[in-house]
Amino acid sequence: MHKDERDPHTGYKTTGHEWNGIKELNTPIPRAILLFIIVTHLFALGYWIFMPAWPLGDTYTKGLLGADQKKRVEKEVAEAAMSRQAALEAIERQDYNTIVNDLHLMALVRENGKTLFRDNCSACHGAQGQGQSGFPSLADNDWLWGNSPEQIAKTIRVGVNADHPESRSSEMLAFGRDQLLQRGDVLDLVSYIESLSGKVPKNADSADSADSDGIALPKGQSIFAENCATCHGADAKGSTETGAPDLTDDIWIYGAGSDTIFHTIWDGRKGVMPSWDGRLTPLQQKILTLYVLGLNEEEQ
Ligand code: HEC
Ligand code: HEC
Repeated sequence: MHKDERDPHTGYKTTGHEWNGIKELNTPIPRAILLFIIVTHLFALGYWIFMPAWPLGDTYTKGLLGADQKKRVEKEVAEAAMSRQAALEAIERQDYNTIVNDLHLMALVRENGKTLFRDNCSACHGAQGQGQSGFPSLADNDWLWGNSPEQIAKTIRVGVNADHPESRSSEMLAFGRDQLLQRGDVLDLVSYIESLSGKVPKNADSADSADSDGIALPKGQSIFAENCATCHGADAKGSTETGAPDLTDDIWIYGAGSDTIFHTIWDGRKGVMPSWDGRLTPLQQKILTLYVLGLNEEEQ
């Protein structure tokens, strides 16, 4: 091993190590790297002093700044819960109109309402409230029991033909089965009702007087006036008093086909909407009322 040998080309001393004739020069660490090492060490030192760093058994060095991520998250969660709680209380307290015009509250209604609707209502009324055969759409602008928030809230609270003492009750009578009308009359009514909603009836033959298109309006019309108008109204536009649907639009609870309409008039119908009193809190019912109203607005 040579000591203090100096490389003649570079002027650096060698380390004294030699591999197959190649000697290692004792060059200093490059400045940039040295600086980097110093800066990072200083940073680490500063971090240990100011921030939580070293574990000490069941505690740790807390750092001079007192930073604590767990506490920060807990504080944020508590603040969010506070504003959520305050918003829910506002929904409980405010009237419908005020809530509808409050974007912040309505955002909460949509978020909560979606879950409540999915869990309690969608099995019958469909995921988007679009309805299905036997269960009315809640997303159109056609209401059996009225379109005000109070009327919708009442339907949700007491139900229809439900076991609640204040339940709304409604029934489409079984005119054929209970022999209130003859088969021919029922067929005439089917034609009449189809003509009301803009459909050309199939069995125009049973008309006692037909217009130029062979549409059996008059006969069906008089049977309707005698038997049906009490509930559906003389203009057949339905009534929110009796819960009888509008028969002049093309929106159907049970379906538009002649066979379905015949079946409705022959065998009657009695849809059941459960009462949610006691099963959902008043606040949940209010949120659902607002949510259902919102479904309607999206449609328009
Ligand atoms: C078991 C099936 C069923 C469930 C579950 C159900 N509904 Fe209904 N709902 C009905 C039926 C059937 C009607 C129509 C009743 C009638 O003939 O008047 C109805 C009617 C309504 C109406 C009145 C519609 C109108 O045109 O006036 C509203 C509002 C309503 N439901 C909301 C809800 C909400 C909100 C929920 C969930 C909390 C819900 N329903 C759950 C079956 C159901
Ligand atoms: C006692 C009141 C009442 C009388 C009278 C009545 N209806 Fe109804 N009708 C209803 C109710 C309520 C419904 C809705 C039933 C339901 O939601 O389950 C209905 C539903 C219907 C429907 C189904 C509509 C749909 O959207 O699917 C047709 C069609 C209909 N009625 C025709 C008639 C005809 C025709 C007569 C006369 C022969 C008549 N109704 C008499 C109360 C009545």
